[in-house]
Amino acid sequence: MTTNFAEYFLLKKGLTFLNHGSFGSCPKPVFQTYQNWQLRLEEQPVAFLDQHRDLIDNLSKPRQALGELFKTSPQNLVRVTNATTGLNAIARSIPLADGDEILTTDHEYAAVENTWEFLVRKAGAKIVRAQVTLPLVSKEQFFDDLVSHMNERTKILLLSHITSPTALHFPIKQVIDEARKRGIITVIDGAHAPGLIKLDLDALGADFYVGNCHKWLLAPKGAGFLWAHPSWQQKLEPLVISHGWGVKERKKDRTSFLDSFEIQGTQDPSAWLTVPAAIEFRKTHNWDQVSRACNLLAQETAQRISKITGLAPLSSPEFCAPQMIAMPMPKTDYRALKDYLLNECNIEMPVFDWQGRTIVRLSVAAYNSQSDMDHLVKSVAEYFA
Ligand SMILES: Cc1ncc(COP(=O)(O)O)c(C=O)c1O
Repeated sequence: MTTNFAEYFLLKKGLTFLNHGSFGSCPKPVFQTYQNWQLRLEEQPVAFLDQHRDLIDNLSKPRQALGELFKTSPQNLVRVTNATTGLNAIARSIPLADGDEILTTDHEYAAVENTWEFLVRKAGAKIVRAQVTLPLVSKEQFFDDLVSHMNERTKILLLSHITSPTALHFPIKQVIDEARKRGIITVIDGAHAPGLIKLDLDALGADFYVGNCHKWLLAPKGAGFLWAHPSWQQKLEPLVISHGWGVKERKKDRTSFLDSFEIQGTQDPSAWLTVPAAIEFRKTHNWDQVSRACNLLAQETAQRISKITGLAPLSSPEFCAPQMIAMPMPKTDYRALKDYLLNECNIEMPVFDWQGRTIVRLSVAAYNSQSDMDHLVKSVAEYFA
């Protein structure tokens, strides 16, 4: 990487921050735009938040920017504070009955599993977790892993696009197509995907897609979106019923989907309003190239660590998320390894137990350097020496 991108970020000096995947840092110019929005709000709170003045127009601009970027109509997506909120709205809008099954994988995000677990318990439905064959090396195998669990009780297919514990890029398109043929509702948890992989939301063909802008797209925290297929938009229930619900005279181009999700009581929408600035920052700095360099660094580092541990990666490179790799470690107390990396090496990264394996998940962002990687490799080598 030629530009020193570390200068663009506010991260504490001296900390080796390798966890953009959980909570990313947003670049200074984007953060400045965010603070400018907040300042405008405080200068004229009523003018800013009155839905009959500029608010609706302002809120529409990020939808337009995301629609363009992710190849869909801006009418098909609404802002949500985060992926969790979007997934909760979806989960609560689909009535579940006794015996219904929600088909998912054994790589899903724990908080999202909680959302569905909470609802299936009430309804007498159940979650079926398909075990994804590891290492993930074939689309066909992934397809079979899931489709072999589909039956007449399967009501919903819930899939991460990029998995949290294993940082895998699931090949979801064919499985979505198969679910659609069988009348199964598809819900895609794309929390990590925006800004990390190319997204073509219409072509993907899901019923619902939820993404975060505050991870790899570089927006401030609290900016996500919920995309819904047009056939679902009228049936989707917002979690909060407020002024935007049941509007009698709707303005041109407004729908109940947009109104009821965009207006949900007093909120600071500054993070959402900053999304176009984040997209612009990425364009200005040729972010595709930056991402490729980060990805290369992540892959090289994982190979170096794999030589130390003697353990193979969880997938072939094509199914590995760009810029993020989950690396299996030799059996150890994961808490001790986490403490060692954080307290003795000043390295912030997730270390956890996943299905009896100790996993260290590496994120490589624009602000990371070769020396960050060398520091990690040396630290891991010393720990297992
Ligand atoms: C796969 C996945 N889904 C959902 C989420 C939740 O995102 P948020 O906390 O922004 O709602 C995360 C967070 O990292 C995630 O990795």
